[in-house]
Amino acid sequence: MKTFKTGIIGLGTVSRTHRNALAQLDHVELTAVSDVKPEKKDELAEGVHFYQDYEEMLDQEQLDAVHICLPHYLHLPAVTACAKRGINVLLEKPSTMNTAELRQMQALDREYGFKLAVCFQNRLNPTFVKLQELIGSGEYGKLLGVKGVAIWSRNMGYYNAAPWRASMAQAGGGCMINQAIHTLDQLQLLGGPIRSVNGQVCNLALKEIEVEDTAIAHIDFENGVTGTFFGTVTYVKNSSIEVQAVCEKGSFTIKDYGLYYAPAENENEKTLLVRDRRLPGSKTYYGASHVELIRGFYETLAGHEDTCVSIQEDKVISLIEAIRRSSLEGRTILWKEMEEQ
Ligand SMILES: NC(=O)c1ccc[n+]([C@@H]2O[C@H](COP(=O)([O-])OP(=O)(O)OC[C@H]3O[C@@H](n4cnc5c(N)ncnc54)[C@H](O)[C@@H]3O)[C@@H](O)[C@H]2O)c1
Repeated sequence: MKTFKTGIIGLGTVSRTHRNALAQLDHVELTAVSDVKPEKKDELAEGVHFYQDYEEMLDQEQLDAVHICLPHYLHLPAVTACAKRGINVLLEKPSTMNTAELRQMQALDREYGFKLAVCFQNRLNPTFVKLQELIGSGEYGKLLGVKGVAIWSRNMGYYNAAPWRASMAQAGGGCMINQAIHTLDQLQLLGGPIRSVNGQVCNLALKEIEVEDTAIAHIDFENGVTGTFFGTVTYVKNSSIEVQAVCEKGSFTIKDYGLYYAPAENENEKTLLVRDRRLPGSKTYYGASHVELIRGFYETLAGHEDTCVSIQEDKVISLIEAIRRSSLEGRTILWKEMEEQ
């Protein structure tokens, strides 16, 4: 495999996870980084070039790929800059802030010859991979319902440290697009095509921020599966995410980083099927699959099997928008309304 020259744009919180992952990979060299804050240069290893202007970095360095770890409102402009130069992109979630931006990014993906992969690392968690495999086997009967619960903690310190996170124009939303996006993404993957969405978003505790701190939703899937979602950042800790799939013959629950099965005839008889990896030194609640995802991205660039999540497959941005619209307009949002956008 050739050695890929890579860059990172945005050296904030999540970039540390990317830098740690890159350090574990052969054949990938972190060549250059960009951040508007000049003091970020001090965090770098010797030899890594630093730019305050990412367009200058893209022009000066011969990069094979770039990791975009920017505030949400900068995702579309930064992807556009890479697309126009034919530079491959690994883009942190959320791809975009809304469906209109998503459509623009999907068009860039079709128009320019570059690879664009979205960072949904929790799709690779062993618990979730196994859950999809078991439901898909058909052995447990029809899927009846899916549930996702993301109860985390964010205080004003989190929003004051990076004010874009509290701004509707710069983040595109709160607990749904920033924290519970992986859980919503998993619900739509499990449930399949969506028919309609009902939702409520509100601020229960954090009244000073523009974006929601809490959201609930009821999702009707075309195949008759019912989805229930609850997300909030108003708790005192980052509880383990819970994802449940109820089949005719039994239920599967991902909780506390394990996947459990309970037969329908005795729900108390739980069996642990598989556990997720834990990543030492990283935030457990991010999940531990960034390394797998980043490795898969470079293997794809090297011509191996394509394991990346394409922007064309990103449905969660429209799901989040549908939940918000349902809440604002006080009505059921049909999925075809989102698709027509
Ligand atoms: N996959 C995950 O589980 C996960 C976890 C956390 C964050 N994220 C995502 O990662 C992204 C970044 O989040 P964060 O919490 O690290 O944000 P952050 O605010 O901590 O970091 C963003 C960085 O970008 C820099 N920046 C701003 N404008 C810039 C510009 N024009 N050019 C270069 N640098 C610029 C800022 O100075 C800052 O250092 C977001 O999309 C977020 O949702 C993903």
